[in-house]
Amino acid sequence: MKKIAVLTSGGDAPGMNAAVRAVVRMALHNGLEVMGIKRGYAGLINGELFKMDRSSVSDIIQRGGTILRTARCEEFKQEEGRKKAANILKAYGVDALVVVGGDGSFTGAKLISKLGVKTIGLPGTIDNDLAYTDYTIGFDTALNTVIDAVNKLRDTSTSHERVSVVEVMGRHCGDLALYAGLAGGAEAIVVPEKGFDKDELCKTILEGKAKGKMHNLILLAEGVGGADELAKHIEEVTSLETRATILGHIQRGGSPSASDIVLASRMGARAVELLLEGKTCRVVGIKNNEIMDMDIDEALAMERKFDNELYDIAAALSY
Ligand code: ADP
Ligand code: F6P
Repeated sequence: MKKIAVLTSGGDAPGMNAAVRAVVRMALHNGLEVMGIKRGYAGLINGELFKMDRSSVSDIIQRGGTILRTARCEEFKQEEGRKKAANILKAYGVDALVVVGGDGSFTGAKLISKLGVKTIGLPGTIDNDLAYTDYTIGFDTALNTVIDAVNKLRDTSTSHERVSVVEVMGRHCGDLALYAGLAGGAEAIVVPEKGFDKDELCKTILEGKAKGKMHNLILLAEGVGGADELAKHIEEVTSLETRATILGHIQRGGSPSASDIVLASRMGARAVELLLEGKTCRVVGIKNNEIMDMDIDEALAMERKFDNELYDIAAALSY
């Protein structure tokens, strides 16, 4: 193992830069050469590789986004595209590739490893939707962004005694809504993992009003449906003034939290250690605060478990 490359792929996540920095610095510390790849798999296919040294990752640990940029690349989903990518890596003398991304990016990493490229995946996504790891890089920062917004919305909702529906990201995974719902003291949490009855929700809202609640905050994961539509339904059924707020890509930006930086640094360092141990086709995660790794196939096949305990606590505390 002499030379490795690193790329970021899929939706960006705060902490990706800290992960890239950790990969680069750990590799250099161990006498490896490092190439950065711009624009994920698209950049790899286009040969957008450049040599990285210690100063290439100076002053990025605290920055949101990804200095390597990111992309979604249809061509890489085809065998031909992946062959092109593998040949480029061979031409640059790259022995191994570290991919920071979500499950789609991991699938890509798994497939290119079949063409003789050693690969390690780091979980970079705000969704926290990877079953094998307790947390993904970016989730904590996005959660704090959502909570900040929820606290602001609570002020205006209380002033106007309104219902507020807040739509957060997470197509198939309700973790952002769940954690933000608990930490933001929401009256209801609507996630794809749980059944959802609109009329039950309206009943809960009216009961809250009868108990003297000044506001009703509903945390809605985007995968369940749109906030506008739900707000309209709530207003029609309850006759309470209701507003919808879609937080959108705000959730993906901003400086990473200390917790995400520490996580990204630990994971990035482990990725290099694994490569030095001759490992390939592994993903790095965290379980019970221990950094761990797992076969990519096994990790992708795992079914996510929804945290029912948190959901029940949030429901009880919103009484
Ligand atoms: P994420 O990694 O955040 O889940 P995507 O699902 O958009 O994001 O995947 C990012 C990129 O990974 C895709 O644009 C594509 O290049 C690659 N990818 C995704 N799925 C596959 C697949 N089934 N086969 C090969 N490459 C894939
Ligand atoms: O996977 C991360 C994520 O932010 C999802 O929560 C969201 O549904 C999606 O990406 C949005 O993707 P795009 O970058 O295409 O807007």
